Amino acid sequence: MIAFPFFRIMPRAKPPDNVPHVTLHQGLHGRPQWCDGSRLRGTAWASGVHCVFHPPAPETSRLFRMPDTYSQYAHICERFYDLSTDQKSAAGFVLTLLEARAGQRALFVGSMLGVAEHLVAHGLALTVVDHSEEMVELARRRLPGAVVRQADLRSLPFDACFDFVVVIGRVFTHLISEDDLTAGLHACRRAVAHAGVVLVDNYESGKILRTAYFNGAIQVRDERSRIVRRSTTELLTETPLVVRWKASYTGIHEGAPFSFDDTIEQRAWSRDEIHARMSSSGFSVLRQGDNFDDTSFYTLARAV
Ligand SMILES: C[S@@+](CC[C@H](N)C(=O)[O-])C[C@H]1O[C@@H](n2cnc3c(N)ncnc32)[C@H](O)[C@@H]1O
Repeated sequence: MIAFPFFRIMPRAKPPDNVPHVTLHQGLHGRPQWCDGSRLRGTAWASGVHCVFHPPAPETSRLFRMPDTYSQYAHICERFYDLSTDQKSAAGFVLTLLEARAGQRALFVGSMLGVAEHLVAHGLALTVVDHSEEMVELARRRLPGAVVRQADLRSLPFDACFDFVVVIGRVFTHLISEDDLTAGLHACRRAVAHAGVVLVDNYESGKILRTAYFNGAIQVRDERSRIVRRSTTELLTETPLVVRWKASYTGIHEGAPFSFDDTIEQRAWSRDEIHARMSSSGFSVLRQGDNFDDTSFYTLARAV
């Protein structure tokens, strides 16, 4: 079923004065619109009418489930990502691929917050979204220079607002069904401005069952935390490639011991599969290649 955005028409003479990094641009149906990173508004200036954009809510997919890990243990996940991936070199990798310049507008989906910090330091006008309220709270504390809000990748509440949309940290792994994947790609396409660029990364079908990140133990530590994650990955279906990943986390964070388990289904793709899905979702694929980790690949594409 095709869902159309719903516009509520309200009388309004001018945009609010307190909106951060406001952008005026040509939006849906040729009406001028502006974005504030927290809500998208459109307006027909001549008649003084103000529209609020409500993206369609995603159909609840049987297969879409957010693990408690990202909410209940968001602070441990954040530390794990910080310590298991060199965030500065990952950010350098992203900036080089995007050829990003200070002042350009970027949407950052998922909570590789260390990478997001480096993008803000580079001068990007960053909007950060995550599905988990707890991750959003951590992002707000950590990224005072960015606009931060809760949103689902499948129904991003933005329309042609950004020069770049960056979905890294393998967020797409949670979009197991074709409907969810398509909704995610279409939402990215809507969010990026004309000729804007999207960078996504995906677990790779030939790697997810083999690499240490998903099979075996990873230990990370610094002066604040010590985390050990032990995981096993079991093949559920080959086409599409879906695995059941079981992980147990133990360690100490700021003096407090913790221990919890996580079991979740995740999807991996081949490069050709993502190339085909992006090409049919309004993108022209520019490049694909190995990612900054050894379990995934990246796809760089331009909105057409
Ligand atoms: C960085 S990815 C991690 C993927 C993988 N499980 C791992 O451990 O490497 C997880 C982040 O993506 C977010 N996320 C997952 N699905 C999402 C969605 N549909 N929309 C927005 N954020 C999402 C989660 O809340 C979490 O902060």
